[in-house]
Amino acid sequence: MALTILKGTVVSAPALGKLDVTERGYLIAEEGRITGVFPVLPERYAGAHAEDFGDALILQAPADLHLHAPQYPMMGMGMDLPLLDWLNTYAFPTEARFADPDYAREVYRRLARDLIAGGTTRVCMFSSLHRQATLILMEELERAGVTGYVGKVNMDRNGGPNLQETTEESMAETLRWLEECRDFRHIRPMATPRFTPSCTDELMAFLGRLAAERDLPIQSHLSENTAEGAWVRRLHPDCGQYWETYAKYGLWNERTVMAHCVWCDGWERQAMKDAGVTAVHCPDSNQNLCSGAAPVRVMLREGVKVALGTDVAGGDTLSMLDAAASAIRASKARRVMDSWETDFLTAAEAWYLATSAGAAFFGERPGFAPGNELHALALDDGKLLQPHPLTPEERLERCLYVRQPGAVRAVWSAGRRVFTAKD
Ligand code: GUN
Ligand code: FE
Repeated sequence: MALTILKGTVVSAPALGKLDVTERGYLIAEEGRITGVFPVLPERYAGAHAEDFGDALILQAPADLHLHAPQYPMMGMGMDLPLLDWLNTYAFPTEARFADPDYAREVYRRLARDLIAGGTTRVCMFSSLHRQATLILMEELERAGVTGYVGKVNMDRNGGPNLQETTEESMAETLRWLEECRDFRHIRPMATPRFTPSCTDELMAFLGRLAAERDLPIQSHLSENTAEGAWVRRLHPDCGQYWETYAKYGLWNERTVMAHCVWCDGWERQAMKDAGVTAVHCPDSNQNLCSGAAPVRVMLREGVKVALGTDVAGGDTLSMLDAAASAIRASKARRVMDSWETDFLTAAEAWYLATSAGAAFFGERPGFAPGNELHALALDDGKLLQPHPLTPEERLERCLYVRQPGAVRAVWSAGRRVFTAKD
């Protein structure tokens, strides 16, 4: 992996709404880290092998900051139900199956491969509450070349008979899981209280302490659905707002990602901004479960960190290119709801959220910045019909909406080539 030189039309998102384009350019990485993007091959690399992807786009590989691995087998199911009914009827029974390690192995191997084949190289991912299945998930992701964070889910209330731990079990299994996953290189553990209704105060307090002691990032759900919000208020009459139920246990800081944030009001958004919490927008899920349309433009304007997630299997696609297109559509619905007072997202903005904004959570600089780990994909749109020659910006926009099967030609993750399309 010492030297990687990729040739193609290099497009990156160095800032919200901005694309850097180098046609027939060179993206170069040494020892897995980007040295730069160059219009001509620099002298010092003369004679080195460049992989030529012809007219293909060379893009940043996206980061999916919120999805549920054990829900992968049930994508597209129960889409006529609101969140809480959908969890009880579909999600919890499906997750309960991951008590079986063989089933976990089969599903997670497929999931890991499908993620990589679609170009997703970084994740913040929920497993189920099962320790063993969570280790299997981490193994399979690591083997396939996916990087990022995985959480053994903690839930000691309101899960039903087949998907619930006692508080003691949840704590002990989490500690054991942390011991057992020490040796993974590219997949690291994340504290994962499922959401406030799933965790007793005692468990939340334990997870907050654990995150602080072990320096763990944190993921959960926030203000996704109105019935959920009302339930949280009943469970925590001492908290004026949903976010406070996390904050009071030390689960609210700059290493926290909160999925959805559809119903966050001005105070909740301010609390996110003040603490540096990342809101993960999951437009497909929000539409499928009739949760609402998140105020993404307002969050961005106010300086809240926003990234994108598929929320499989509230979301019905594993593709972050699809998720970016859905974010644009959701922002248009929001514009109508806001009496045309908010702008919809441009393709460049949505792609920034899908790539650079997610990578920021992993400490990377935006775009193909020198020093970043090489996370990239080669995307071929050459088989699509074209009414006239398109600019690279138009090609990227189109690829968010339309792709031929096999469009993702190759993928690099943390400097390594992890996928090559079969012809
Ligand atoms: N809130 C708590 N658990 C879940 C889940 O699995 N999916 C979604 N969309 N929201 C949740
Ligand atoms: Fe979710």
